Amino acid sequence: MVGIDHCYNIADLRRAAKRRLPKGIFEYIDRGSEDEVALAHNRAAFDRLKLKTRVLEDLRDLNTDVDLLGDASAMPLAIAPTGIAGLCSYEGELALAKAAANAGVPFTLATGSITSMEKIAEQARGRLWFQLYMWQDEALSYQLVQRAKDAGFEALVVTVDAALGNNREYNQRNGFSIPFKVSARSIIDMLRHPRWMVSVLGRYLATSGMPRHENYPARYQHRIAFGSGQAKPVRQSGMTWADIGRLREFWPGKFIVKGILRPEDALLAIEHGADGIVVSNHGGRNLDSSVASIDALPDIVAAVAGRATVLFDSGIRRGSDIAKALALGADSVLVGRATLYGVAAGGQRGAEHALKILRSELRKTMAYLGCTDVSELTPDIFAKTAPVRRETIETLPSQE
Ligand SMILES: Cc1cc2nc3c(=O)[nH]c(=O)nc-3n(C[C@H](O)[C@H](O)[C@H](O)COP(=O)(O)O)c2cc1C
Repeated sequence: MVGIDHCYNIADLRRAAKRRLPKGIFEYIDRGSEDEVALAHNRAAFDRLKLKTRVLEDLRDLNTDVDLLGDASAMPLAIAPTGIAGLCSYEGELALAKAAANAGVPFTLATGSITSMEKIAEQARGRLWFQLYMWQDEALSYQLVQRAKDAGFEALVVTVDAALGNNREYNQRNGFSIPFKVSARSIIDMLRHPRWMVSVLGRYLATSGMPRHENYPARYQHRIAFGSGQAKPVRQSGMTWADIGRLREFWPGKFIVKGILRPEDALLAIEHGADGIVVSNHGGRNLDSSVASIDALPDIVAAVAGRATVLFDSGIRRGSDIAKALALGADSVLVGRATLYGVAAGGQRGAEHALKILRSELRKTMAYLGCTDVSELTPDIFAKTAPVRRETIETLPSQE
């Protein structure tokens, strides 16, 4: 068995996660939707962007610190909300939150997490953001937001790109659902992963009992494992910008709208009080014909014109991807799977390892580009072949 110390990049951590997790859980975190075109396209769009090195710059003071939404972050990165992180590792959300705190970056807790927001706030010292999926029963959602307020979460991240769910057929094939359905296939899958059975499921059973959605209101807090047939809160499919305005009024802290791919939606988010937006196609997990997030970014940055913080996610697997997103105008990136693979492979230490890898790769990329500060990551790092906005390229003084 290869330990995380022998994982030299995010792809290695992914392979380690694949070995550890039952197939149903691994594919749930790893794969995209429908034909997985958006998933592949997110990566292909990054790989198309080519950079030009700049040499013989003094790099002794190179640092990755940024001001992110008014507070310091050790790099332009936050951990994205990912439901069921707590099934990848025992109390996986807490492990991610602690890893983020140790790395000096924010952590976003998902509505559908297994560890309660109060426990996270109590035990993780760092910057904490809470992600909201609005439920049909709005009063329940507002109770959730009130709890996040009371627990001292710094930012509310409202996800707006997943109202009607998604098409992920492999989950059906794997017999995987939340709550788990008891089927011969899912039982065999778990039995084939004894290490996961003991270190994740077994540990819950020995401590707090079967894992459940601890943030859900009591009547929906069923067992996630083997609790099939129980009622789940239904997502609000009638949500509009007016709801965003109301949430903004209710939430005293920083307010972020996640899942924007159009400049006009970015402007509406700002009009309704957003301090930040996340340019995201949900990591290729929702609309399979979606534009790659990185291709949508430049027009949104141009429209926002500095009036809000622009966060970016979908497809970040290398530090050079972070450099590219920043050069195209993002203030910071979020990572979903990169740290999930880490936490699945090795708990908190695995998540810390993922963050360390990304930071080290970002620093090396900056060094190749002759940048000592992330503010120096501007469009002139791109070679002419890059599909960045034509206007941007034409105004560059340094193009040969
Ligand atoms: C397993 C998994 C669960 C996720 N759950 C949520 C969620 O509950 N809420 C949300 O806003 N986004 C969720 N996302 C999307 C992430 O926040 C983020 O947009 C995406 O993972 C970014 O792409 P990346 O994984 O390539 O970094 C989830 C992603 C994954 C992989």
